[in-house]
Amino acid sequence: MKSYVILISGRGSNMQSLIDAKLPGRCAAVISNRPEAAGLAWAAERGVPTVVVDHKAFPDRDAFDAALAAEIERHGPDLVLLAGFMRVLGRAFVERFEGRMLNIHPSLLPAFPGLHTHRSVLEAGIRIHGCTVHFVTASLDSGPVVVQAAVPVLQDDSESALAARVLAQEHIVYPQAARWFLEDRLSLVQGRVMLAGETSGNGTALRSPQG
Ligand code: GRF
Repeated sequence: MKSYVILISGRGSNMQSLIDAKLPGRCAAVISNRPEAAGLAWAAERGVPTVVVDHKAFPDRDAFDAALAAEIERHGPDLVLLAGFMRVLGRAFVERFEGRMLNIHPSLLPAFPGLHTHRSVLEAGIRIHGCTVHFVTASLDSGPVVVQAAVPVLQDDSESALAARVLAQEHIVYPQAARWFLEDRLSLVQGRVMLAGETSGNGTALRSPQG
């Protein structure tokens, strides 16, 4: 059976949606760079091994990245899922896991990389927002797109209302992308996302690469 690890830094709602999705693979570990991450307790209660690799315990990013990579490799996962993991990862780390590491970002990339995406969307006055699952590459919040979901921006939206609308979609598309990967349908070939057996029947919310 294939396995995956999930990297978190905080709340862990995407982690919960991944574990609750009963993916065709074992969750080998949830790893956090913050000991106080709320998601750790949730995972532990469900019998998922949890590990803390505290970035504050390392002198620099390279040392942290090396320790994190070693911890991940110890579990031998087929797939690494960044789920609200709030540390920038260095090039060596990213290249080591290239093609088997996914991230979820709360915007329709390449628009609005970085933090505070919902606030930025409201300030920009645009009407469509959403989320993106992508393979992780060395540059922040970019990388070949696997799947996106779009939501409307309403005229009376607050940042928190918009965030909640996007998060509901995150909880759908991230397990979907992870499932594709664990079913051997999703891969990265020469920098391009390949999804075997893709159909166009997903309707309005989901858009896959060739759809
Ligand atoms: C999500 O919005 C995710 O897209 C972003 O950080 C947030 C994490 O939330 N990368 P959670 O910890 O999964 O609840």
